[in-house]
Amino acid sequence: MSSLVRCSLSLEQGLFDQLDRLVSKSGYENRSEFVRDLIREALVQEEWKEGDEALGTFTMVYDHHTRNLNRNLTEVQHKNHALFLASTHVHLDERFCAEMIMMRGNATEIIEVANSLTKQKGVLHTSLSMSSTGQNLSS
Ligand code: NI
Repeated sequence: MSSLVRCSLSLEQGLFDQLDRLVSKSGYENRSEFVRDLIREALVQEEWKEGDEALGTFTMVYDHHTRNLNRNLTEVQHKNHALFLASTHVHLDERFCAEMIMMRGNATEIIEVANSLTKQKGVLHTSLSMSSTGQNLSS
């Protein structure tokens, strides 16, 4: 079981007021919960910056009528198969597709693969959600 450490912070009044506003607006029970999540967010950012093992969810919207696009997207995924955990494909309408791909591995490699998918002709929008395997975030 983890030990709980109490600490105090020194903040300017304006910043303190903003903290309380954010805590209240976000629906947190108290400031501690909010600060814990801020720290975890900073840790996840560090993992991605340092190229540590990470969890990324990549979403892309594309026009499947674009010549060779399906083949190119599959090529990129096969080349980097070790990173891919799962993917879900949704046919949005007769022309557009959405695909959500979960990747686990070196954060730098995930970004490279995401960039390789994004730059394919016919891919209209992408987003990469940078998350964590959780190893550094628990007590
Ligand atoms: Ni489709």
